[in-house]
Amino acid sequence: MNITIRPLRESDLPAADIVYRLAFGTLAGLAVPIQYGGDTDYVRTRWAADPSAAFVADAEGKPVGSIFAAKWGSLALLGPLTVHPNVWDRAVGTSLLEPAMDLVKQWSPAHVGLHTVVHGAKHIALFRKFGFWPRCLIEIMSKPVQETELGPHKRLFSELSADGKPEALEACRQVTESLYKGLDLEREIRAVDAQDLGDTALLYDVGKLCGFAVCHWGPGTEAGSGRCYVKFGAVRKGPDSGKQFERLLEMCEVLAGARGNSKLVAGVNTARNRACRTMIERGFHTESVGVAMHKPYGPGYNRDDVYIIDDWR
Ligand SMILES: CC(C)(COP(=O)(O)OP(=O)(O)OC[C@H]1O[C@@H](n2cnc3c(N)ncnc32)[C@H](O)[C@@H]1OP(=O)(O)O)[C@@H](O)C(=O)NCCC(=O)NCCS
Repeated sequence: MNITIRPLRESDLPAADIVYRLAFGTLAGLAVPIQYGGDTDYVRTRWAADPSAAFVADAEGKPVGSIFAAKWGSLALLGPLTVHPNVWDRAVGTSLLEPAMDLVKQWSPAHVGLHTVVHGAKHIALFRKFGFWPRCLIEIMSKPVQETELGPHKRLFSELSADGKPEALEACRQVTESLYKGLDLEREIRAVDAQDLGDTALLYDVGKLCGFAVCHWGPGTEAGSGRCYVKFGAVRKGPDSGKQFERLLEMCEVLAGARGNSKLVAGVNTARNRACRTMIERGFHTESVGVAMHKPYGPGYNRDDVYIIDDWR
């Protein structure tokens, strides 16, 4: 089989989506692997967020694998990486990682991360070839939420004027900068806004932005029907960050309920122990567990004093 790795094009999306579902569905042992992920979407939304950061493995005109990368300022993320089960263990995954790693190198990130399965001996070996090391577990958690009203004091990115949006993006950047030098979530905030995937909730303290949460909800997003998923949430570093984090979680719960969802989903690296504890104390339960792979081996922002919600999937 002759396989070419090339940039992923819009016309590849239906086939790349099928391969993504078959790969994870087979890994999960589903009776009908193609049903993996239900009405969530990762392939189209990630491609639309940055078409230049997606590659496909093309087997004589048929996509048999894909990989995505994301630049969050000084952090680069990889994934999902998926290969059609019919061609596993034939170096397709390795071949997809090569251009993705070259692209990431051009971004000169301080840190590169990815989420993989805990029981994956093959996964750990594959990513280790590219300099990644496993560190802490990542818990994907959820809690039920009640239907509610948003209330007048909840501020959302989508409601800002065209002039107000750049200002809010800069304020969000300052929040993440306080936690990890150069961390910037502009890509995800803009993707949610442009693709109408959900919204970014903005948390203020005495008129100053002290936190935000980029949320997806509904079909065709990373959340799926009935679920609101916090793709990234953070509060500014400072003496009140514990209290502000509770406010951020409360705001996400209200937003989830006000937009007709019955569940709030949020992931956290267990190295962010205070954030993880707070979520458990607020009634979150673990749905699944993965492991964070780091390059280089250092902690990045996965530290005890950092109140960030994300799971690097
Ligand atoms: C994970 C996945 C992308 C790998 O793709 P692939 O094309 O099969 O991977 P490759 O053939 O390029 O590489 C596999 C490597 O793991 C090694 N390997 C396989 N089984 C192994 C094991 N049990 N222990 C150690 N190494 C193992 C292979 O020898 C190979 O390394 P080598 O090239 O040095 O010999 C593919 O299996 C997949 O799509 N899985 C489902 C989705 C998924 O889990 N994605 C990754 C989540 S981040």
